[in-house]
Order: sequence, then structure tokens, then C-alpha cells
Amino acid sequence: MILAIRSLWKHHIRIVEKQYAKSNEMSASAVKKFEQAFAQWLGVRYAFAFWKGRVALYAILRSLGVGQGDEVILPGYTCVMDVNPIKYVGATPVYVDIEPITYNMDVTLLEEKITSRTKVILAQHTYGYPCEMDAIMDIANRHGIPVVEDCCLAMGSRYKGKLCGTFGVAAYWSFQWNKPFTTGIGGMVTTDDAKLAEKIQHLCEKELLTPPKKASCLLAIQRVIYRAFVYPRTTAAATIMFRWLTKRGLVIGSSATCEFEPRMPDDFFMGMSSGQGRAGLQQVKKIEQNITHRKEMQAIYDNLLTQAGWDVPNIPDYMEPVLVRYPVRVADKQLAIAKAPRKLVELGTWFECPLHPIETPMHMYDYREGMCPVAEKACREVVNLPTHPRTNASTARRGVEFIQSIGKPS
Ligand SMILES: Cc1ncc(COP(=O)(O)O)c(C=O)c1O
Repeated sequence: MILAIRSLWKHHIRIVEKQYAKSNEMSASAVKKFEQAFAQWLGVRYAFAFWKGRVALYAILRSLGVGQGDEVILPGYTCVMDVNPIKYVGATPVYVDIEPITYNMDVTLLEEKITSRTKVILAQHTYGYPCEMDAIMDIANRHGIPVVEDCCLAMGSRYKGKLCGTFGVAAYWSFQWNKPFTTGIGGMVTTDDAKLAEKIQHLCEKELLTPPKKASCLLAIQRVIYRAFVYPRTTAAATIMFRWLTKRGLVIGSSATCEFEPRMPDDFFMGMSSGQGRAGLQQVKKIEQNITHRKEMQAIYDNLLTQAGWDVPNIPDYMEPVLVRYPVRVADKQLAIAKAPRKLVELGTWFECPLHPIETPMHMYDYREGMCPVAEKACREVVNLPTHPRTNASTARRGVEFIQSIGKPS
């Protein structure tokens, strides 16, 4: 069975490689066009595309001169792939607990974490809820520390009318399967700071690797399969299949096994392929529709969950979130995770632990249990429901009925 899949796969890759070689030259500028279109949408001057979002963060940290002995502050409710670049440059992550409504950094705890070694504050807009940017920028400016925004989950979210990603010295974005839009995997740095842009450009010229043809082709095939087969009712089965294939090295997984420890893989610092660039360009054209759809889904979930007796988040008026997934607390998260695939419900598990996923060896990332109690509670209780363009009111109804069957936390 495995051999048959492997040979079929190889045959497919050879065909796509030929087509790719032909189209590659024609579209060598696809990445550039994607960068320009994305920068234009955000309203900033510079954008640099990468193989993944974590690579984008690495480029920012290197270009800001973050290194051995430095500290980077971030919320203790994140993905370990976000922490890896900090460790790769030799810095220490310093975790701030979150507040329980938006799941973002609790700004009342931020200042006490700042030391003479703090080099960057990472403002992660969790699930798409904007961070308290006024307070963060005020503290950061008083201490002369640059703020970098993690916009991997927050495309189109606004704080006091201004787009997330335009507050700090730079922002980075992810285009992985579960993100606001996807190029399979992919990432971007955006900045309005000419000096930083020059440094990133220089770093890329010196060190950026070109994605191997085989990986780019495989990813192109995966994008086609994703478009054809992955819908809310099929997501659970597709995820199981995807993980099975990833373990056997038959597909491009979101993370390689070696990325679950803080040692930088040799091929980490990689640029974006033209196939990803073309896919991204198509997605930027539909970005406003995507945002409108997510806002509509959020309103539907708010409504259904209120009717079901849940307290929906009371977000200040000056925050305009665009949710990548709709977070909701349940009585028994493990039961929900176990039951959802059988009920054909697309249920997300972010974040399973303060440095998602649950397999993360947290001690290697300087996290000790009890450091962020509010985040740890959220990890035990929060699951999330989809808001992406393939969802509709019926997806939301099924999701909320499922959540009701699990129950509210006491
Ligand atoms: C909040 C957050 N930031 C950054 C990343 C890294 O993005 P990527 O998978 O594109 O490297 C993730 C990963 O899922 C994430 O959840």
C-alpha cells in the first residue's frame, strides 16, 4: 500500500516538475508581485516573502540584531514554531501571561518582564483579536524597545481603526493551511522602516536559500488536493491523512520533526517559491471578501452561542477583530477533540499548551509549568471553530450544536 502510494506520488511529481520548470521562468516575478500586492493592501512600503511565517520572524530578529544573551518578550500562549526563531538566534524567550477574553498578552504584566537585555516585544494578535496596542506601544517606547507584531492569525483586524501589522517596527504573517489565507505554507515580513528593510534585503541576498524544485512541486500538488477535497466535513479525515503522510515524508508537512527542538535545521532560512507566490497573489485579490466572510461568521457564532447560553467575548468597541478561528471554552476539551472527527465537525485545538502543540519539550524553551496560569487554563478549556471562506451558517450551527453537546466549563 505504502509502496503504491509512493510510486504514484513520484509519478505525479515528475509530471508537475516538468510543468513547473516551464512556468517557473515566466513567473519568476510572482513572488515579487505577491510582495507588492500584500504591502499595498496593508499600506506599508516593504514586504519580503518566505517559505514559512517562522522564517519571516527569524529574518526580522536577525535584522534587528537580536542575538546571544538577549531576551524577547512574547505571550505564553503561542505556537512553538514562533519560539524557535528566538532560540535559533541565541536569545531567551520571556513569557507574559494572557488575559482571558482576547487571549492576548496581559499588558498589566508586561513592564515587569522588561530587563536591560530585552531586545524585542512580540505582540501576537491571538485568533485575530487585536492586542492592546496603545499600552504596548507606550511601554515599548518608554523603554526604547522595538515591537514586532505577530499577525499570523490576524489579517484585516483593526485597533482603533488602524490595521494590525502597522503599529510596530515590523510584522510577520503566515500562509499555512490554517491561516487567514493559504499558499500551502508561506510567510511574509512587512515593514515601513527603510533601515530594517535594507537589512532584511541584505540578509536575504547573503543567506536566503532557494526552495528545492521537488518541495515546491509537492506543495503545488498539495494545494490542488486541498482546494478539491478539504471542506469542514472532510477536514478531520484530511488532517489524519496529512499527518500520516507527513510522518512518512510523502508530503510537505507544516513542521518537520526536527523543528520540535530548538536547533535550527540547515535548510531553515528559505525563500518563497514562485508557486506559493502565484497562489498568494490570487488570495490577495480576494482578501476583502475573505475578511467580510469571517466577520459574518463571527456574528453568527456570537448569536448562536449566546442563544446556547455561552458568554460571548465582550470586546471593547475600538477593537475590530477578524477571527482566523472562533475560540470557545468547553467543559471537556479532550472529549470534544475525541468526538469531533466522528461527528464530522471541524474543531481546532489551538493552543494545546502554552507552546503548542502538546508534544513540545517546554523546558527546552525556558517555559516552566505555572509561569502563565491564565494561559494554561485556556489551554485546558479552549477549542476553536472555523470561520474560513468554506464555512457557512450551517457549518456554524453544526459546530455550536456540537459544542453544546460537550457543555460549558463550570
Ligand atoms: C501565532 C503563530 N505565529 C507564528 C506561527 C508560525 O507560522 P508558520 O507555520 O507559517 O511558520 C504560528 C504557527 O502556526 C502561529 O500560530
